[in-house]
Amino acid sequence: MPVIKAFDLAYGRLRSPDLDKEEEFLTDFGMVRADRTRTALYMRGTDAPHHIHVTELGEPRYVGIAVHAASLEDLEKLSRVEGASSIEDIDEPGGGKRVRLTDPDGYQVEVVHGMAMLPPIALSRPAVNSGNDKYRRKGELFRIPRGPSHIKRFGHFVIASKNFDKTLGWYREMLGFRCSDDFYSGEKGNVVGSFNRLDRGEDYVDHHAFFCIRSDKSGLNHLSYEAADIDDIMVGHEHLAAKGYGHMWGIGRHMIGSQFFDYWIDPWGRVHEHWADTDVLNAATPPNLMERGPGTAGPWGQPIPQKFMGYASP
Ligand SMILES: [Fe+2]
Repeated sequence: MPVIKAFDLAYGRLRSPDLDKEEEFLTDFGMVRADRTRTALYMRGTDAPHHIHVTELGEPRYVGIAVHAASLEDLEKLSRVEGASSIEDIDEPGGGKRVRLTDPDGYQVEVVHGMAMLPPIALSRPAVNSGNDKYRRKGELFRIPRGPSHIKRFGHFVIASKNFDKTLGWYREMLGFRCSDDFYSGEKGNVVGSFNRLDRGEDYVDHHAFFCIRSDKSGLNHLSYEAADIDDIMVGHEHLAAKGYGHMWGIGRHMIGSQFFDYWIDPWGRVHEHWADTDVLNAATPPNLMERGPGTAGPWGQPIPQKFMGYASP
């Protein structure tokens, strides 16, 4: 049994030497400023959580990840784990309490409870007239403006690890992540990547919240955010391209998880993904093992660039 079952992802925490520049990128990426202090930037999506992305002022670094606990009792359980902090009040906008842990690669894992929830940002999106239900938009015209995407929520995080087995086992044990798909290279025992989802029992959750990659270096591969829909990603793609940001991979449709995807790079090399339309599973789906190869490529889209294989921002 894991120590707890994380309820949801909360935010990724980065460090950047220029908060103006980071805010400009994240705004162009489709987030909205929730708060900013002299030393940190807090960005939100259209859903209720106070923030889904934190940037501290400092030398570029991936600090770590945060997840929401289902209860204060879960924080108590985690605070008894060796090396964990006690339960702390979060002295930052959004508040709440947390326990801090350190993963096997030395990155921080915050488990938070009681973060402020804000009124969701209203966003009206046109329905799509296709397939067997082509009258969803009866009498209405498809009119959406150009500009940035609209980030809804934090969907998943991906880390590369040189301690792959230990790191994967640690996240599953501490936070209750459940295997959706593992894939191997060569022999079946040589698992090189593992897609894991939250465990909320009968409730359906995204195919993966956490993907771990075997690599010769450890660090953040990417943070991934759900956009409003597919058109929202396409419109946002043109906006980010026009602004001259670095593009990593896309557009395409994944095979594992099925998301429509597009990957962008912030001014310090940290990859941020837009996605929409994921597979959703509940605890009834057993773990799957597959071989890495052409069979794991999606139905269409740009193949993964070599530079993104095992990519890790320290
Ligand atoms: Fe992703």
